[in-house]
Amino acid sequence: MSNSTPQTMGQQFGRRSWAEPWKIKMVEPLTMVGRAERQKALVEAGYNTFLLRSEEVYIDLLTDSGTSAMSDRQWAGMMTGDEAYAGSRNYYNLEAAIRNHYGYRYIVPTHQGRGAEHLISQVAIRRGQYVPGNMYFTTTRLHQELAGGVFVDVIVDAAHDPADRSPFKGDVDLAKLERVVREQGAANIAYVSLAATVNMAGGQPVSMGNAKTLREFCGRHGIRLFLDATRLVENAFFIQEREPGYAGKSIAQIAREFCDCTDGAWMSAKKDSLVNIGGWLAVNDWTLFEEIRNLVVVYEGLHTYGGLAGRDMEAMAIGIEESMQDDHVRSRIGQVRYLGELLEDWDIPMVQPVGGHAIFLDARAFYPQLTQDQYPAQTLAAELYLDSGIRSMERGVVSAGRDAVTGGHHYPKLELTRLTIPRRVYTQAHMDVVAESVKAVYDGRAAARGLKMVYEPRYLRFFQARFEPL
Ligand SMILES: Cc1ncc(COP(=O)(O)O)c(C=O)c1O
Repeated sequence: MSNSTPQTMGQQFGRRSWAEPWKIKMVEPLTMVGRAERQKALVEAGYNTFLLRSEEVYIDLLTDSGTSAMSDRQWAGMMTGDEAYAGSRNYYNLEAAIRNHYGYRYIVPTHQGRGAEHLISQVAIRRGQYVPGNMYFTTTRLHQELAGGVFVDVIVDAAHDPADRSPFKGDVDLAKLERVVREQGAANIAYVSLAATVNMAGGQPVSMGNAKTLREFCGRHGIRLFLDATRLVENAFFIQEREPGYAGKSIAQIAREFCDCTDGAWMSAKKDSLVNIGGWLAVNDWTLFEEIRNLVVVYEGLHTYGGLAGRDMEAMAIGIEESMQDDHVRSRIGQVRYLGELLEDWDIPMVQPVGGHAIFLDARAFYPQLTQDQYPAQTLAAELYLDSGIRSMERGVVSAGRDAVTGGHHYPKLELTRLTIPRRVYTQAHMDVVAESVKAVYDGRAAARGLKMVYEPRYLRFFQARFEPL
């Protein structure tokens, strides 16, 4: 990085450069506010990046959820919205796209992922049942708990270690799962909750081998296996790249093979599927579907729109097709990796290997002087915003929330700050600016003093909690 001759991206990393498989035809100007205004905005937002106005943000890496750029084909599809209350043609296009690519038989749209999580939790969990899963996700676990379920983490130990470079840190540890089933009895397991990739572990993938073993295990014990398919496309990329036997298969083939190991899935289409809003729930079992189809009317809308406009369903149907294209996925993950390579070159501590949707900075390693009660990852997100107007998100003790039984904080091993890359939105130059800001904050790490929480909402506190400097 210290070379004074200009170098292409490929030269910098000793390989040929690649470029995005699209060109830009519409732009949205960015705003850049000065440091004094950023300081003021941060205080007003209670040191919580979720409470900043987007106009106060320069490069927005809060989330990859609903923040993607839609294609010209998707925008054209929006104009073909059939806004009939019932039986919209766009619903049938969506159903066909999901059946084709994810392979499930029965589908309801939902307004976004958590709408689907709510429905599956209500129909598939009986009060007191256990729900083993490969690390928790905030909204997923909350819906499972609100339905009376008890979440149990059965992910491999490597997932909790940011420095461990194992290729499939999203895998379920079969020994842990077997123990839960043995201790609680198969009848007390609502289902196995499998996320691919695993957001809270750093966007880490699940191997096909693990999915197949789980299929066999669950089949043997009469337990259902449900998939959080939110970033399955990105998971398929890692299988193609890392798992023997998959290099010659397409992302679409791998994604379908993975789904075929499971009994159903919920989806936040705001990620992989390149739309700004939308989700779905799909299962293969008709009896279960009947319950879902009945309940969706109560919480989302009729089963042929599930809280979405016809135009949204059309954009999603087209987005599903586009999301499965190999060159798209390669460039999407390539951009995340580019940022990772820059940071690695500067020895910035982060989750390894770099996952599919984000760089997860290791806030414990940034700030060894802070305890988890001083919110290191929240502090790091605030410092980054202050330095450059870049918005990131806490994924540590604040996101982990409180134990539903004891009321005490969950103290996760991972205390991370997430730089999440929206799809098809930012350029390589933006990534350079982000990397330099992370470096500047890392260089100033010794001065960080941490935060205290001064307001804590009851549910999903990370969204609305407020903090003050210590
Ligand atoms: C893995 C995973 N599952 C579920 C959800 C919930 O989806 P939504 O935000 O669309 O409600 C998210 C959102 O971030 C997610 O990352």
